[in-house]
Amino acid sequence: MIRFLTAGESHGKALTTIIEGFPSNLKIENEYINFHLKRRQMGYGRGLRMKIETDTAEILSGIRFQKTLGSPISLLIKNRDWENWVEKMTSDKQTSKIEKITIPRPGHADLVGVSKYNFNDIRNSIERSSARETAARVAAGSIARKYLEVFGISIGSFVESIGGVYPKENFADKLFNNNLPNNFKGWNLSEQSDKSEVKVFDKEQETKIINKIKLAKKRGDTLGGTFFIVATGVPLGLGSFVHYDTKLDAEIAHSIMSINAVKAVSIGTGFDAAEKFGSESHDEIIKRGDTISRKTNRAGGIEGGTSTGLPIIVRAAMKPIATLMSPIETIDLKTMKSIEARRERSDFVAVPACAVIGESMLAWSLAKFFVQKFGGDSIEETLDNYKTYLKKLPGRVKKNFSK
Ligand SMILES: Cc1cc2nc3c(=O)[nH]c(=O)nc-3n(C[C@H](O)[C@H](O)[C@H](O)COP(=O)(O)O)c2cc1C
Repeated sequence: MIRFLTAGESHGKALTTIIEGFPSNLKIENEYINFHLKRRQMGYGRGLRMKIETDTAEILSGIRFQKTLGSPISLLIKNRDWENWVEKMTSDKQTSKIEKITIPRPGHADLVGVSKYNFNDIRNSIERSSARETAARVAAGSIARKYLEVFGISIGSFVESIGGVYPKENFADKLFNNNLPNNFKGWNLSEQSDKSEVKVFDKEQETKIINKIKLAKKRGDTLGGTFFIVATGVPLGLGSFVHYDTKLDAEIAHSIMSINAVKAVSIGTGFDAAEKFGSESHDEIIKRGDTISRKTNRAGGIEGGTSTGLPIIVRAAMKPIATLMSPIETIDLKTMKSIEARRERSDFVAVPACAVIGESMLAWSLAKFFVQKFGGDSIEETLDNYKTYLKKLPGRVKKNFSK
């Protein structure tokens, strides 16, 4: 069983995460975590903060000479802007008069936060509901990702659309048609899409999206979008159909939906499958050489809550950013009068970053089920268990049925 907790406020001293349950001897380099943290900060249309701060993680425990010890791993990501926030965010006694935030933004956690936690300052709620917390998730997800890489599992993502601007040819079709080169790896998608400021493959689409973001900025508005996350090399057999909480698709839906501003998650062709005939929707079982395979992968690599051995394909939708420079209507909680929502330093678009966070959360979910299935106190033990399983897997069905 692996688990992690994050702590920290958006403008607090630092974010921290404690990660537990990974075996010993897993190689982790600090640069690897920082590489993914940097990716979370990318994208055209981000706010000023992403430009002035570069996140780096400091390893506080659980790793010695770049290898895990099997003990809890703790990571610290300092907020570089902390010194400008000490007065407003100190855990010590309040020493000066701080202006309270009383105007909630529709679409953010401001109103629910002050109501639920009985606050009289929206700052108390903003600080933790901010997506800043996802930096700690990416750090934790990097450990999961590194673990999965040992077993040949590779994760990547791309943005499908921003503000309703889709590519002429959707790469997702290739994924669903199971029409990928043999050496295709999930990470190839990110390698390619990270070159684009909006994380897309198509140059024409990129220009259209950037123009749309410029328009949104000019109007003081924001945009959302959709993205795909793909994991390759996942063996058949992660997850199960026996309980609601052992289903891999349910686990993935939870972890992706938990990302700030994500409002829809689907596996495989998802919503589109609901409009098709069964014959157009399911993946025919065929023989490829000596092994059983599928003509297509519309199920997105999961059937009956269990991985099929084909790439796991996850699609998600992010709503537009809630903070608007031309704000919509709200109520000032101090005066109870109608007013425009509060403006504050903010992203206009964060879909590319959201896809990177999605990669981390998918890595976490897969690692969780992988650790459960293959166990082991050291990575060598896990590898042995995994190899034994793989060796027996291809002939298993044939052997059982020819008895
Ligand atoms: C990478 C990323 C960056 C975000 N940046 C902002 C931002 O700058 N301003 C903002 O209002 N919301 C931003 N959000 C969205 C809010 O965090 C989110 O809407 C809020 O926490 C409320 O949660 P909900 O949208 O899931 O209901 C961002 C989300 C992500 C994933």
